[in-house]
Order: sequence, then structure tokens, then C-alpha cells
Amino acid sequence: MLFDPRPKQEKRDLFGRERELNRLLAAMGSRCPLILLLGVRRIGKTSLLKVALKEAGQPYIYLDLRILEEEGYSRVALYRLLSEELSRLHSAWKRLGEFVRKVRGVEIAGVRIELDWGSRGLMLSSLLKALNEWVEREKKSSYLTLALDEAQLLRNMVGGKGRIDFRSLLAYSYDNLPNLKFILTGSEVGLLMDFVGAENPASPLYGRYREEIVLEGFDDETALSFLEKGFREQKLKVERELLEEAVRRLDGVVGWLAYYGYRVSQERKPNGQLLNAIFEEAKAMASKELEKIFQRSRYYRLVLRALGMGEGSWASIKRSVEAWTGKPVGNAQITRLLENLVKLGIIRRGDHGYQIVDPIIREAAKHY
Ligand SMILES: Nc1ncnc2c1ncn2[C@@H]1O[C@H](COP(=O)(O)OP(=O)(O)OP(=O)(O)O)[C@@H](O)[C@H]1O
Ligand SMILES: [Mg+2]
Repeated sequence: MLFDPRPKQEKRDLFGRERELNRLLAAMGSRCPLILLLGVRRIGKTSLLKVALKEAGQPYIYLDLRILEEEGYSRVALYRLLSEELSRLHSAWKRLGEFVRKVRGVEIAGVRIELDWGSRGLMLSSLLKALNEWVEREKKSSYLTLALDEAQLLRNMVGGKGRIDFRSLLAYSYDNLPNLKFILTGSEVGLLMDFVGAENPASPLYGRYREEIVLEGFDDETALSFLEKGFREQKLKVERELLEEAVRRLDGVVGWLAYYGYRVSQERKPNGQLLNAIFEEAKAMASKELEKIFQRSRYYRLVLRALGMGEGSWASIKRSVEAWTGKPVGNAQITRLLENLVKLGIIRRGDHGYQIVDPIIREAAKHY
């Protein structure tokens, strides 16, 4: 179903994106060990990734790193995710067990592959090495793909006791394990790039070549066809004018278009009033996701409000923030706030100054 609110898994449900899918599949079949799939929130990264993993017909491990947030990025939580994926892989690829059971900290109980997360337990580098050996011997496959969704979150696991330095692990695999391939996705694009640090001499991944695929929003025509096709599937007639208005307000972000389609299909009353109501729901959802950032500094809210009200230049943002707080704010602080918002993928810097990326947040921010 085109309007399914979950990420797509099947190629037939993936609208457009032929070019991006082909590029991703080509990169997955090439010798390049590291692929980055980038794009702002709700632009369709996970969908493209899942469809590609399935289409490639090769073994893969998929980890949704957002799940780790709830458990404070602990080793236990990560090993549990990994154990689930390895168990799934094992049920399809029986010989996998022969290779991983030799690794310290790995136990196989029936179809389950359990990982010991204690300090004397499993070392991930040993597991990766065993996986590489397995692929080498497995005649039916050439690569094992490790897909890390929202990989910028891995930076939270770096340093400290019991933590894992993923960059070193990735660099080790890049240099020594030719049958493993990593795909990292990231909606906080700047943070992911900082994490990978391909341009930073201090990073273990410095200078490593990687393939980059950037997902952009749909153009108006594609967005319109997406809605038309989705509503046809739902056997729901929606006036063209209404579809055009939705496209105008949702600005090619496929996640929002799908959300709109899904909600209209639920209510089955396609009119302007419903569009407004759905727009309000979306604003509330998007704003809630920003709460974490607002907790870090109340200035983020004010910077976004200034942008929402149409101020795009550095100077006018500073002026607005100072007017609202009633006191001077340092130049360096304004710059830092803007830089952080860019890295988080919430705003971008264009020819006419800064702009909020997401059309829903752009509207909501007027009232921040
Ligand atoms: N090409 C597509 N065709 C049809 N629906 C899509 C497509 N891409 C994404 N969607 C839909 O849009 C929504 C968001 O997609 P998805 O979760 O893949 O995006 P994302 O970039 O991973 O988002 P997030 O940053 O929130 O993780 C989902 O409802 C998904 O089904
Ligand atoms: Mg995603």
C-alpha cells in the first residue's frame, strides 16, 4: 500500500526512486566497502534501504539504531539487536553457525545466536572477522551488507568503559574484511559526516572513499502522481485542487505526503477542512520531535521562530532573538546555534540565507 505509514519493504510499494534504487544496488554490488545514504527526516531513506536490501538478494544485517536511544546506547541493547538479526540470518543461511560459534562470546542455542555483552564477552571485531570468513566460503553470496540506520547515533557509543568505538571498527573492516559492506543512513546529515570524519585526519576513517547517495524531495509533478496513484489504490476520489494544495503545503517530502494520504484514506472525507486538520496534526508531531533540542537551549526555539517568520539572514535572526529575550546574544552563540541546526538537518543555508528544511516545521515555527 502506497500510503502505508511504515517504511516500505517491497519494490512494488516504492514510488519513484528508480534512479536512487539503481545507484544503491550498483554501489552494493561494487567493491566499495562504505555507502552513505543521506537525507532529511521522512524523505524515504529507510524505505529505499529496505527495498534495496531485499532486491539485492544477498545476506544482510539491518540495525535500526533509533531503538538504542531508549536504553541509553548500551552495549546490552546493541548486542540484543545484533543477536536478533544474526538469528534471522542463521535461519536462512545454515552454514553461518559453523563460523560464528568459534568466536568467544557467541553461543548458539537452536536457531538463536546469543551474544555475551559482558566485558570479557564478545568483541565485535572478532565477530566481523568470522562473518567475513563465512561469506568468503559461502558460494551463493559475495557480500554481507551491514545496514546501520541513523548511524550518526553511533557516536553516542564512543568512548568510556564498555563503550564501542565504531569508527575504528568500521576502518578495520574497511581495510581488512573485503566481504563486508556497510551502509550508513543519516537524517542528521552533518552529524553523520562528522562521525565518519572522512575529511578529518584524526578520524580512523580519514581519506576512505565512500559512495554517497542523497535523497531529495519529490518535484511537484511526482508528488502529485504519488497522491493520485495512492488514492486510486484506496478507491477514493479526491479533487485535483485539493491534491495540488496538499502538494504545495507538503513540499515533496514523501513521508508527509504518505501521512496525508493515509489519514484522508482513514477518514474518507477528502475536503479542505480535513487537509487543515491533518496539517495541524503533522505540525504537532514535528514540533514534538524538536522538544529534545529545545531542552538543550531555549534559543533554538527562538532561532526557528525567527526563521518561521521569514527572517533568513544571520543579522536579522540575531536581532529577532535579542528582541524576544530582551538582552544581547553573542555573535559566536548565534553562529553556533545555526551551525548545530544545519548539522541536525533542520535548517539549510541557501543563496538567500537560512531556511527551515521541513515544510511542516516551517509553518509550525511561526508560533514557537
Ligand atoms: N518511495 C516511496 N514510495 C512510497 N512511500 C514512501 C517512499 N519513501 C518513503 N515512503 C513513505 O514515507 C514515510 C517515511 O519513509 P521512511 O521511513 O522510509 O523515511 P526516512 O527518511 O527513513 O524517515 P526518518 O528520517 O523519519 O527515519 C513512510 O510512510 C514510507 O512508507
Ligand atoms: Mg528512517
